[in-house]
Amino acid sequence: MRSSNLLAVLSAVSGAVAAAIDLPANVPRNVDEFRQKHPYKNKGCHNQRPLVKIRSSADDTDDVADEFLEGLKKANNGGTLYLPKGELFMIGKPLDLTFLNDVHVHWDGEVKFTNDTPYWQANAFSHPFQNSLMFWKWGGNDISIYGEGILNGNGQRWWNEFAGLEILDPDNKYLRPVLFYAENATNFQMEGIHEKDSPCWTNFIVTSKGVSFKDLVITAESNNATSEPKNTDFFDSLNVEDVTVERVWVNIGDDCFSPKSNATNLHVNTMYCNGTHGQSMGSLGQYAGEMSFVKDVVIENVWLLNGDNGARIKTWAGPDVGYGFVDNVTFRNFWQARNDYSVQIDSCYFNIPSETCEQYPSQMNLTNILFENFTGYTSGKRGAVVARLSCSTNPDAVCENIQFKNFNIKSPCGDPPVIICDGVKGDTGVDCVSADSAEAQAALGKTCSVPLATIDPPF
Ligand SMILES: *[C@@H]1O[C@H](CO)[C@@H](O)[C@H](O)[C@H]1NC(C)=O
Ligand SMILES: *[C@@H]1O[C@H](CO)[C@@H](O)[C@H](O)[C@H]1NC(C)=O
Ligand SMILES: *[C@@H]1O[C@H](CO)[C@@H](O)[C@H](O)[C@H]1NC(C)=O
Ligand SMILES: *[C@@H]1O[C@H](CO)[C@@H](O)[C@H](O)[C@H]1NC(C)=O
Ligand SMILES: *[C@@H]1O[C@H](CO)[C@@H](O)[C@H](O)[C@H]1NC(C)=O
Ligand SMILES: *[C@@H]1O[C@H](CO)[C@@H](O)[C@H](O)[C@H]1NC(C)=O
Ligand SMILES: *[C@@H]1O[C@H](CO)[C@@H](O)[C@H](O)[C@H]1NC(C)=O
Repeated sequence: MRSSNLLAVLSAVSGAVAAAIDLPANVPRNVDEFRQKHPYKNKGCHNQRPLVKIRSSADDTDDVADEFLEGLKKANNGGTLYLPKGELFMIGKPLDLTFLNDVHVHWDGEVKFTNDTPYWQANAFSHPFQNSLMFWKWGGNDISIYGEGILNGNGQRWWNEFAGLEILDPDNKYLRPVLFYAENATNFQMEGIHEKDSPCWTNFIVTSKGVSFKDLVITAESNNATSEPKNTDFFDSLNVEDVTVERVWVNIGDDCFSPKSNATNLHVNTMYCNGTHGQSMGSLGQYAGEMSFVKDVVIENVWLLNGDNGARIKTWAGPDVGYGFVDNVTFRNFWQARNDYSVQIDSCYFNIPSETCEQYPSQMNLTNILFENFTGYTSGKRGAVVARLSCSTNPDAVCENIQFKNFNIKSPCGDPPVIICDGVKGDTGVDCVSADSAEAQAALGKTCSVPLATIDPPF
């Protein structure tokens, strides 16, 4: 059955009538179809670069961290570390790889971290931002990772032990490492590999310039129903410039591509995100007195399924937060199915009571934001409300030129879909109402649901 028909049937089941929506053909439904549609062409030949090989692990307890480090030292300055297909490389010690210069890693095998959680909690590197831990640190110039291999965070034990906790709870003491961390990297590329089961964020890139992620599969899947892979964001960053993401399949348990403080010139093209918290800018402005910004961003050709949000901007409010701005961000060609809000600007992050948010509103300016060519339907969790712009009530925080163009997101709760906008200066390009209005309240009050979105027909 075609999904457009499927949606019509589902709406009938849920007791609401939604207009049939033309769904795009040729959208991959799983990793195999993603690889078929966007085959990764291995660079294979090593262009006369010296090739370095290292011993691989005999089993899951055979730590080759020292060999991995030695291999990169040997391959550094013009060579290639080769990790052949079918071989396993267990890493059981933190590695400082910030000395790199003109190095390739031809990554066809599997690199996997041990899951000795107490060991890593005592020995991993740390970063003050949201109390991050890191298995290793990469950094330097002209670093290229490519291949058809796997980077495995072995996250299950971490998720099991974290179950019930919250990463943003200031009292949380159970910290989990980031799968891939780079700092002070210039001209860094990662291509082709599968980043799998990170304990926490999947990629965290700090103070780096010229960063590219292409043809990647990023998944975090739990085999334990009571322990979800939490906070496994695909991409987080601080202080980055010139970032490109092309053709990625993301099935994880938090934000998809999610730059945080200080990001300039970001381009994402062709990204599939399933089950995420959305394509988020931020969170931003978390720390008292700190200035942060995101500017000059294009995020285009994105498929977002079964998530909490579609396109989202989140900024902190409260007595001890920072300030800054988000400027010139275009979200374009988004196809969405079963996300709670298809667009959200949340200026009361993180989960603060509305009175506190009103008393200490966000100090972030939001300007020149465009949501263009959005198609699909929401989950019904927000009733007939499909998008919500809640700008800061701070008279000094501008929220200006926030526009919708060619915006066609439906709600399974029926017509008309409602857009909430509060505090936006200037025309939004759509009819929208205040959250306090009777219309918004009635729309939020509707109840309906749709089952998990799968994509049909196959391509
Ligand atoms: C599943 O996760 C729970 C915590 O939510 C944990 O208590 C339990 O041991 C885990 N089950 C297995 C089989 O590891
Ligand atoms: C990055 O560079 C800065 C400035 O040179 C330095 O202080 C910092 O230690 C470097 N970070 C890493 C991980 O090497
Ligand atoms: C972001 O940039 C501002 C202004 O340059 C600076 O004060 C702040 O420390 C930067 N933050 C980070 C995380 O780099
Ligand atoms: C998409 O996400 C949902 C919800 O997390 C999950 O149940 C489903 O298996 C995922 N589908 C794919 C193809 O990964
Ligand atoms: C907005 O950002 C895009 C993408 O980086 C850039 O090409 C464009 O020049 C920026 N526009 C302005 C007015 O700065
Ligand atoms: C926010 O906008 C106001 C008004 O244009 C401006 O005075 C202020 O400097 C801006 N703040 C930042 C952090 O850019
Ligand atoms: C609008 O987005 C859809 C994907 O949802 C895409 O297929 C279509 O080409 C886009 N339209 C334009 C004019 O770019």
